[in-house]
Amino acid sequence: MKDFMELCLNRQSCRNFTPRPVEREKLVRCVEAGRLAPSGCNGQPWSFVVVDNPKVVPEVAKCGQPLDSNGFLANAGAFIIVLEEHAVLMPRLRTMLDSQFFAKGDIGAATVCVCLEAADQGLGTCIIGLYDRENLSRLLGLPLEKQFGALIAVGYPAEETIRPKTRKPLEEIVKYI
Ligand SMILES: Cc1cc2nc3c(=O)[nH]c(=O)nc-3n(C[C@H](O)[C@H](O)[C@H](O)COP(=O)(O)O)c2cc1C
Repeated sequence: MKDFMELCLNRQSCRNFTPRPVEREKLVRCVEAGRLAPSGCNGQPWSFVVVDNPKVVPEVAKCGQPLDSNGFLANAGAFIIVLEEHAVLMPRLRTMLDSQFFAKGDIGAATVCVCLEAADQGLGTCIIGLYDRENLSRLLGLPLEKQFGALIAVGYPAEETIRPKTRKPLEEIVKYI
């Protein structure tokens, strides 16, 4: 494992993939990392779809290219889709909270674990926010009302350069009390 801070700095959104396919074992490690993410009351409101079938990957890529966006997805080697599932909450909590109260945050945590594990294995990822949900549901054989958590493109980066991070300065976002 790399130094964790180095891993955080090295993980970046990859928008230039080589056409090299991604090994299934590496994708399994990514979802394993997602599975290990923390979640509110350990509710684990997620499931994962791994798309590495070379006939289906380009179809998922097309779903991620509405309005001619995200052209780089044409070379993505695989996709990992995080789906929102029912959280398993303790009965006592269910009386206080909506069962999906923590779900969006939990899925964010799982998504980042997937991306960091991918980076640790030398893979590039890009989380895709803009996609055709209806077509993606049909393609994956999911009910149209299914809630998507995240669509993550995975592949081998064509460039090794690590871009400097553009982030708000620490002083602006942290208060010490
Ligand atoms: C919810 C979400 C949706 C995103 N959607 C897209 C997208 O559709 N296309 C894209 O190129 N990048 C997308 N990104 C990547 C962000 O632009 C990127 O994470 C941000 O600019 C920080 O850069 P970095 O990931 O390289 O550190 C998305 C990221 C997140 C978390």
